[in-house]
Amino acid sequence: MSTVVVVGSVNIDLVAAGGRMPRPGETVVMERFAETHGGKGGNQACAAAALGATTHLVGAVGDDDRGRAARADLAARGIHLGGLATVPGPTGVALILVDDGGENSIAVVAGANTTLTPAWVSAALDAVAGPAAVVASLEVPLPAIEAAAAAAHRRGRPMILNPAPARPLPASLVSRCTVVTPNEGELTTLGGAAALLAAGAGAVVVTRGGAGCELHTRGHPPVAVPPAPARVVDTTGAGDTFTAALAVALAAGRPLPDAVRWAAAAGALATEAFGARGNLPTAGAVDTRAASGYQHTLRSALPRATQPW
Ligand code: RIB
Repeated sequence: MSTVVVVGSVNIDLVAAGGRMPRPGETVVMERFAETHGGKGGNQACAAAALGATTHLVGAVGDDDRGRAARADLAARGIHLGGLATVPGPTGVALILVDDGGENSIAVVAGANTTLTPAWVSAALDAVAGPAAVVASLEVPLPAIEAAAAAAHRRGRPMILNPAPARPLPASLVSRCTVVTPNEGELTTLGGAAALLAAGAGAVVVTRGGAGCELHTRGHPPVAVPPAPARVVDTTGAGDTFTAALAVALAAGRPLPDAVRWAAAAGALATEAFGARGNLPTAGAVDTRAASGYQHTLRSALPRATQPW
């Protein structure tokens, strides 16, 4: 069984859906509202656990009702929460709009997520025994992510960075990432796949939603990964499930091209229900979707020697 340690945000999502996005200065009426559990770190941890991984979450919630509810939900999903701090102040909140096409816009007020410290992250990661993949995203302070990457590096663990929301990253962090998983907008902010590889990233997987994804490794042309079929309801959290599945597959020792294809199938399944955690797939469901969606294997498209581990 894979072990995954997720370092990242925990939010409560306030979601309005059904209709179209407002333009700046405009008011629109949408059809429904829900308050759900979210945060990129929380979503990634829940996705990894649903896929069968032993999962640890390192992060922070506030000492409010939202924080208590978030912790209870994560615990109920079997996630190890020794690294989840409760701090004074509000839990993170995300305001999310989902249009009729399933596309989303998200504004986050980070709250407790801003309190995560490098010392807390290092101690929490060092407390996890055995081999484990480390997953991180950027709704928590950069020094905390740098500490996660340093701990992963120290232990020889794969480090998967989901650079969302995107911001310029120091080369010292990028060079410790086994894989970076930006979407197209995030890739632009980060200066492109070639820049990330030049800074030392082991591989870059660019997610392009319904257009699939693209695997970049140093010295080789990019490999296009076709999209898995999906009946899209809501794309919120699909990138989180993609990143979690990639980590689970890599922690299990699967080669990168296979792991990317499996993660793409997981991400596709995650879009088929409302909410960031509305359809977190099991490993069996991902296997079935991966088998149904592809006509060729990536293993033949990318030589084994180009895989960074
Ligand atoms: O990736 C989706 C997540 O982004 C939401 O759950 C929201 O909380 C924000 O963190």
